[in-house]
Amino acid sequence: MTGTVDTTTVHLLPQTNLLRALHTVIRDRDAERDAFVAHAARIIRMVLETGLDLLPFEECEVSTPVGATYFGQRPAAPVCAVSIARAGESMESELRTVLPGIRVGKILIQRDTVTKRPNLYYTALPMDIARRHVLLLDPMLATGGTALAAIRALLDKGVPEDHIVFVNLLSAPAGILAVQYRHPQVRMVTSAIEEGLNDNAYMVPGIGDFGDRYFGTD
Ligand code: URA
Repeated sequence: MTGTVDTTTVHLLPQTNLLRALHTVIRDRDAERDAFVAHAARIIRMVLETGLDLLPFEECEVSTPVGATYFGQRPAAPVCAVSIARAGESMESELRTVLPGIRVGKILIQRDTVTKRPNLYYTALPMDIARRHVLLLDPMLATGGTALAAIRALLDKGVPEDHIVFVNLLSAPAGILAVQYRHPQVRMVTSAIEEGLNDNAYMVPGIGDFGDRYFGTD
């Protein structure tokens, strides 16, 4: 798919020196696994916080220790997360650090080895997911096939499209465009938009296989 990325639904983290330094470690093919995991976790925290910022808030006020009033904001809607196994599970511990009690569902999607089409194998989702805002977690958005299948699974459970925030680390333009074309109200948060995909559907410059590098299964 070709086209122009619509930046109203894609929230790309500011490309600060710090963020690029973190990326420099995780993209290095020679990075040790503990460095890969630690630096990926810091980026994961950043995209998660940005995703949380896209959820509904309402005004509130509190009294400060000096007797003044602080006019603030508080979350205004129930939220849950859904991780796409296996790579999405890498984002769960950072999310639980920020929101310890959050409900976390799971979706398993795998490509048919012959047709290459993504098949939905397993879902475990909160019963009341239809009334929640959902942070959909997967660090990699390449062709978009898995993301589209996961979004379809959420829509089939009654989650409104505009309640879904897809949180990831690396996105290929093809994947972003696929999601925008099929689900224009789904918002996406990413820390990098890549140049494209190679013949094996890996992102370029990319990171290799995120799951293998994170979980040490390469
Ligand atoms: N999944 C990965 O782990 N890496 C890619 O580049 C694309 C999909």
